[in-house]
Amino acid sequence: MRITPQEGKLGVVVEGFDANAASVDDIETLKEAVYVNKIAVLKHQELNPRQFLALGQRMGTVEPYYEPVYHHPEVREVFVSSNVKENGKQVGVPKTGKFWHSDYQFMPRPYDLTLIYPQVVPSKNRGTYFINLATAYRTLSEELKLAAKETTATHSVRRYFKIRPTDVYRPISEIIDEVDAKTPPVTSPTTVTHPVTGETLLYISEGFTVSIQDVDGFPRPELLRALLEATGQLDQTFQHENIHLQSFEKGDMLVWDNRSMVHRALHTTTPEPAVSYRVTVYDDAH
Ligand SMILES: [Fe+2]
Repeated sequence: MRITPQEGKLGVVVEGFDANAASVDDIETLKEAVYVNKIAVLKHQELNPRQFLALGQRMGTVEPYYEPVYHHPEVREVFVSSNVKENGKQVGVPKTGKFWHSDYQFMPRPYDLTLIYPQVVPSKNRGTYFINLATAYRTLSEELKLAAKETTATHSVRRYFKIRPTDVYRPISEIIDEVDAKTPPVTSPTTVTHPVTGETLLYISEGFTVSIQDVDGFPRPELLRALLEATGQLDQTFQHENIHLQSFEKGDMLVWDNRSMVHRALHTTTPEPAVSYRVTVYDDAH
């Protein structure tokens, strides 16, 4: 296994990683590289959905997505993002994650690690945008750092919950009530400490963070906006220096530190066939 930094960019490239034969040490080395460098691109992977799940299980406890509509038909722990019909049937969900978020940020316990394994790779416009929330915090003005430290942030899936095929003809209020009952908003400190690296993370996203409030519970919408702006999440041109575009090719697997990253799917004006598998993991680092 050879780990090298991505030139001038966030993340590392991992050559020679054999998911089926990796030792305990290999897995630990890989995880450490992910915590420190935030994203690892594993080259030349050839895994079926079961083997992909098995790799996730070696990295921690795999947590399947709560909505079954996203599940792989044979391996429910594998989340499927796809705009390609199989035998005329939709498998998984199309157009996922086209907004800044961290995976499961709206849940009481967000995922620690995300593994993405693209299956059908678009010929152009492929990639995922990332922002490192440790860098986002570090590069804030002292004034914003101080303001953020004393607040909490509330996250909700409400704005981005995807209407399921079974929701057609249901009243929207009923769907919203169901979303609120099943996934009530969660509140956490706006800045959190990374359990492995000790970095301070500015844990907010444009997609899921619905409010910030001060110690007395008083909403601070202007502060949320200022923080999102400073992190780069409001930059519609994606030129902000915090934004990293991670490209990939067939055979690549991306593993990222979901604690310290927000990401969003690349927006494409001309949709091309794309299929991606995802496995999400709770590790034991607390
Ligand atoms: Fe995501």
